Amino acid sequence: MKIIGVNGSPHRDGNTALLLRTVLETIENEGISTELILVGGTAIRGCTACYQCGKNKNRQCTMKDDGFNEIFRKLDEADGFLLGSPTYFADITPEMKALIDRAGFVSRANGQLFRHKAGAAVVAVRRAGGMHAFDSINHLFQICGMFTVGSSYWNIGFGRKQGEAAQDAEGMTTMQDLGRSMAFLVKKLHT
Ligand SMILES: Cc1cc2nc3c(=O)[nH]c(=O)nc-3n(C[C@H](O)[C@H](O)[C@H](O)COP(=O)(O)O)c2cc1C
Repeated sequence: MKIIGVNGSPHRDGNTALLLRTVLETIENEGISTELILVGGTAIRGCTACYQCGKNKNRQCTMKDDGFNEIFRKLDEADGFLLGSPTYFADITPEMKALIDRAGFVSRANGQLFRHKAGAAVVAVRRAGGMHAFDSINHLFQICGMFTVGSSYWNIGFGRKQGEAAQDAEGMTTMQDLGRSMAFLVKKLHT
């Protein structure tokens, strides 16, 4: 069993990473292996609408030089994944949006590869707009036939500077509860 976390922030060790690591550590404590991948700040490009993934049906995007296909392979092989993003103007980062658009297309072009995987959104926010960013991510899970995992509150942590989200006690509890629920679901899906 494996769960992947994808960090959509250009900050490798920022608040989004801190929140994702909290979820992933809880999942590890439940005996499930995890991996954290960085997509924020990379050269990942947006979907060019070439529609070749629908013709090739080879579990790949035709743009092969920006790291997307490596990330997609990991998502495809995982039992579930977390997509994390800081809030940028009340939405997700462009890198996370590029990943969602292309991953959604390649998954669907190949017969819903993400179907019945567990998925959860994780969002870092300074003040406002986090809910909209959270919703942007959840749309992927819904259209891909995935099981969206919730927590004791929406999976959002507050903070501006690096590490500040650790002071959001309720946000941290929400991440730990999310990790436990994610592990619970993935174990059930494996029985
Ligand atoms: C371009 C940009 C836009 C932002 N827009 C918002 C916003 O709309 N609402 C908000 O509360 N914080 C906003 N922020 C603040 C970040 O969401 C916040 O600092 C977050 O914790 C950063 O996460 P990170 O450390 O993982 O990068 C913005 C930051 C940047 C750089």
